[in-house]
Amino acid sequence: MPIHCHISMANSHIHSLYLCLIIFCISHLLASTLGESNNYIIHMDSSFMPKAFSAHHNWYLSTVASVLENSDLSTNNVTSTTASSSKLIYSYTHVMNGFSASLSLSELEALKRSPGFVSSIRDLPVRADTTHSSQFLGLNSNSGAWPASNYGQDVIIGVVDSGVWPESPSFNDNGMSEIPSRWKGECAGGSEFNSSLCNKKLIGARFFNKGLIAEYPNVTKTIENSTRDSEGHGTHTSSTAAGNYVEGASFFGYAPGTARGMAPRARVAIYKALWENGSVTSDIIAAIDQAIMDGVDVISLSFGLDGVPFYEDPVAIATFAALEKGVFVTTSAGNEGPFIGTLHNGTPWVLTVAAGNIDRDFRGVITLGNGVSIEGSSLFPGNSYFSHRPIVFMNDCANLKKLKKVRHKIVVCEDRNGSLSLQVEKVVLAKVAAGVFITNDTDLEFFIESPFPAVFLNRKDGETVKDYIKINSKAKAKLEFQKTILGTKPAPSVTGYSSRGPSPSCPFVLKPDLMAPGDLILAAWPQNVAAALVDDHELFSNFILLSGTSMACPHAAGVAALLKGAHPEWSPAAIRSALMTTSDTLDNTLGPIKDKGGDNINTVATPLAMGAGHINPNKAINPGLIYDVKLEDYVNLLCALNYSMKQIKIITKSASNKCSSTTSSLDLNYPSFIAFFNANDSNSDATTVQEFHRTVTNVGDGQSIYVASITPIKGIQVSVKPDKLVFKEKNEKQSFKLAIEGPRLLKEATVFGYLSWVHTAGKYIVNSPIVATRVSSEFVS
Ligand SMILES: *[C@@H]1O[C@H](CO)[C@@H](O)[C@H](O)[C@H]1NC(C)=O
Ligand SMILES: *[C@@H]1O[C@H](CO)[C@@H](O)[C@H](O)[C@H]1NC(C)=O
Ligand SMILES: *[C@@H]1O[C@H](CO)[C@@H](O)[C@H](O)[C@H]1NC(C)=O
Ligand SMILES: *[C@@H]1O[C@H](CO)[C@@H](O)[C@H](O)[C@H]1NC(C)=O
Ligand SMILES: *[C@@H]1O[C@H](CO)[C@@H](O)[C@H](O)[C@H]1NC(C)=O
Ligand SMILES: *[C@@H]1O[C@H](CO)[C@@H](O)[C@H](O)[C@H]1NC(C)=O
Ligand SMILES: *[C@@H]1O[C@H](CO)[C@@H](O)[C@H](O)[C@H]1NC(C)=O
Ligand SMILES: *[C@@H]1O[C@H](CO)[C@@H](O)[C@H](O)[C@H]1NC(C)=O
Ligand SMILES: *[C@@H]1O[C@H](CO)[C@@H](O)[C@H](O)[C@H]1NC(C)=O
Repeated sequence: MPIHCHISMANSHIHSLYLCLIIFCISHLLASTLGESNNYIIHMDSSFMPKAFSAHHNWYLSTVASVLENSDLSTNNVTSTTASSSKLIYSYTHVMNGFSASLSLSELEALKRSPGFVSSIRDLPVRADTTHSSQFLGLNSNSGAWPASNYGQDVIIGVVDSGVWPESPSFNDNGMSEIPSRWKGECAGGSEFNSSLCNKKLIGARFFNKGLIAEYPNVTKTIENSTRDSEGHGTHTSSTAAGNYVEGASFFGYAPGTARGMAPRARVAIYKALWENGSVTSDIIAAIDQAIMDGVDVISLSFGLDGVPFYEDPVAIATFAALEKGVFVTTSAGNEGPFIGTLHNGTPWVLTVAAGNIDRDFRGVITLGNGVSIEGSSLFPGNSYFSHRPIVFMNDCANLKKLKKVRHKIVVCEDRNGSLSLQVEKVVLAKVAAGVFITNDTDLEFFIESPFPAVFLNRKDGETVKDYIKINSKAKAKLEFQKTILGTKPAPSVTGYSSRGPSPSCPFVLKPDLMAPGDLILAAWPQNVAAALVDDHELFSNFILLSGTSMACPHAAGVAALLKGAHPEWSPAAIRSALMTTSDTLDNTLGPIKDKGGDNINTVATPLAMGAGHINPNKAINPGLIYDVKLEDYVNLLCALNYSMKQIKIITKSASNKCSSTTSSLDLNYPSFIAFFNANDSNSDATTVQEFHRTVTNVGDGQSIYVASITPIKGIQVSVKPDKLVFKEKNEKQSFKLAIEGPRLLKEATVFGYLSWVHTAGKYIVNSPIVATRVSSEFVS
């Protein structure tokens, strides 16, 4: 079955208005004919390794050699070892006990009978899903997360992505101190990538393509052996997380200012595993394996796999290893919104990030012949000024053919049928001088970077233009561009494309976890990858505006680095808890954060869209209480998912995990609550109670008292016992029970509210979303 595909983002960005959404989704034919080799990720039980082997790698080589077709084991000759080393792609160290190899089906069958074989997973293709955003998040040098963490100076962020453009000004190391001595990574040289290109900012660069080459041998000749970013995604995400200060940055005049990452003094190490020729999990987990070994503190993963349980999701398995080493992992929720249950990376041991917009708009100005000026949305990168041109109203622009001298005319289209994309397409084909589009659509980020001069107006402003045209037989207008407006409201809002929970792989843990800026984010871009297209001419820029959960994820990685810098002793779960419980649920109008997606545009966003809320670094640095999670709590969750011991072992790599009915629990000590009310029987009027147990640790003031406050939820009763927590000292733990009582079948699909632990001295509010829903039934298998 071919996997549906959008071509790699750089090209889509330029060649199609509608594919600007930054998704890696390179198509692969998962052909698996007999005899043909495919990549497999093989889990082994290391207790079976014969003593004769000094290293796992040699055992794996020998295991592969023993199953090769036509291999003559009795001769045990050199050819077969050579053959097996060409078949073995990677030996993994931390992410799992095992290796990846390119095998035929019969070789795989033989391998399954080898001593120590646990399981195999077919290698899978993966898709990937300013700088004003730091200001929007409240980051500043006077107080809060930046000074408290020394701007993330001692923290190392590993970014697994499409590589890096090391010459980008965002990776300059001005003002950076010496590289932390614990760093074990390297700057691997490669084609057009001199190992001397790394510095005190960009401290590591490595590439991983052996899996891809084994899977698709036809890429061998064209794939570059280099960490250099030839498409831009990795340069953008890594500079968003930790780019250094660059003055005078902009995208062709839009979003001008000083660019910088969320943790401007943190170090960046790039692991290139996403390629223009495709991306496979065997390379990605090799990259994560290496990042753990190199000593990164935070890993940022702006891609994910859909529709697989954790024990078949190599990214979930590899990130469990990261967790064991105390490495914090942020991931993108995906760009499949606004549909419910589309989220990926819904893994309980990572942070899953949704995308919101920021309080910034890009505009063009249309000035009519009568002197009236009107602003509309635009991100047209070309010349900013036009003399007056004739302007005509063409209704829905379905038929532009009869229009004469189109190249000199400004065409006005009105979208009556929700057919904006069709109209834009028609206008592109007609090659008019400029387009003015009247639309109700507010989710315009994929239209406004048009390859021809265009402005998008709301209906009210559209009427003004139409009225002017109607009464003037010689109507004319001119257009100006490159206008950036700050402080727009409401912001943040959840973007329409951000994928929604519940998590198909584990609906019992509410996902996404939180929202971060992801819409039209300015960050670094390779010098030789076109940043825009105008009239078939490629334009280049050191900075570009991109949208997607891929852009939200590195914001969270940068903020997590600040928390790690301020609290080096905190566990990944503690950092996640701090980020979640302090996130904002109100927007800049002081109303609840809205959702731009779906049928109910601008209704209140639910936690299935934005998690706990919008990330707030300055509050997260000092959360008061945290919900911590121990490794065995995750194991107890896997037990309660009814995974077999073998499946659990694939994830945890430990034979000592045992499931018992007393410890198995779906009730993870998570800073959020989700309860499913979807019974479908005759007794659906009866009520049912669902209980959650939580333990919080006092990381704020020594002596402190917190009282529970719960927002009312329609049709549901929520109670907390005790409703007051008294702490005598720092690091003390207190437990409570939260009960949600409701009908067995909810009337509304999803209702929600918040539990807040309010510090009586007024210093902290520790917020958790509470969701009651019946939408689970499709997702819980
Ligand atoms: C080694 O094994 C290969 C097959 O794997 C066989 O063709 C070759 O003759 C063997 N060589 C020796 C020296 O035994
Ligand atoms: C890498 O850069 C160094 C310093 O600029 C230079 O001496 C060296 O020749 C370069 N190596 C390659 C392979 O280009
Ligand atoms: C390479 O192989 C893959 C599948 O084997 C195929 O989909 C792709 O089109 C090939 N590419 C080229 C350039 O031949
Ligand atoms: C791999 O990517 C390069 C760069 O985009 C391209 O030129 C080449 O045709 C691709 N090769 C295959 C086999 O798809
Ligand atoms: C990259 O390295 C692989 C070996 O790992 C080799 O087969 C391939 O030809 C190299 N690519 C180029 C463009 O040289
Ligand atoms: C919009 O709808 C009208 C009537 O339903 C139809 O005639 C017209 O072609 C449609 N326009 C577009 C652009 O689809
Ligand atoms: C656009 O909004 C107006 C009111 O603001 C409404 O009357 C109209 O039906 C909407 N049009 C579409 C196509 O949604
Ligand atoms: C696990 O199995 C038990 C017993 O069959 C069942 O009650 C429970 O609902 C299952 N849990 C999940 C998450 O499927
Ligand atoms: C309950 O059952 C009815 C009839 O079988 C079905 O139409 C409905 O979709 C079910 N509802 C849920 C929430 O499963």
